[in-house]
Amino acid sequence: MPKPKIAIVYYSMYGHVRTLALAEKEGLEAAGCEVTLLKVPETLSDEVLGKMGAPGVGQADEEASAAKLADYDGFLFGLSARFGMASAQVKALLDSTGGLWQSGALVGKPAGVFFSTGTQNGGQETTALTFVTQLAHHGMVFVPLGYSTPKLFDLSAPHGGSPYGAGTLAGPDGSRQPSALEKDIAEAHGKHFGTIAAKLAK
Ligand SMILES: Cc1cc2nc3c(=O)[nH]c(=O)nc-3n(C[C@H](O)[C@H](O)[C@H](O)COP(=O)(O)O)c2cc1C
Repeated sequence: MPKPKIAIVYYSMYGHVRTLALAEKEGLEAAGCEVTLLKVPETLSDEVLGKMGAPGVGQADEEASAAKLADYDGFLFGLSARFGMASAQVKALLDSTGGLWQSGALVGKPAGVFFSTGTQNGGQETTALTFVTQLAHHGMVFVPLGYSTPKLFDLSAPHGGSPYGAGTLAGPDGSRQPSALEKDIAEAHGKHFGTIAAKLAK
């Protein structure tokens, strides 16, 4: 049986989401998936990005496009929170998928989310939940993390992630990097998602 082809479609301004994406990739591969990182195209000007101190994350990664999405069996969307939801860059990509919606190209394909917020209560859950509308309208099958990994119960230190998916806390100034626990949860998320994607691909 061919390996399920999974795209990790991510937007990451300072690298936190991309670090989680790499851990998700490990988990997906452990579950027997073929994985590609697709970077969501930037929509902000270089001037604005410069003022925001954006370093230009994942420059070697392939850029995502609506046409490319049709080639994959499932998706993990990596979201950098903006005002409690996905960034406009990700929304712009999704807004370009009208043709896929019309043809039903993504119907029945599994999709999950992982995310980064600046603060602990800044949208770990709302960023995931508000993204489910995008998946539902495309007829994709939302695969949550649930409590499939006991690491979600670890309260020894603050951490991102929830039953909706893996997550990290970047800190108000972005100086906090994904912790070992958050990366473990992201790897477990990838493995869980990949196992379900493989079942759906049968
Ligand atoms: C315009 C803007 C809005 C943001 N809104 C939120 C927010 O609602 N909640 C939050 O916790 N962090 C918010 N942040 C912080 C980002 O979520 C944080 O920079 C991001 O998670 C870091 O991940 P990345 O390096 O992968 O982009 C915001 C950042 C920007 C620039």
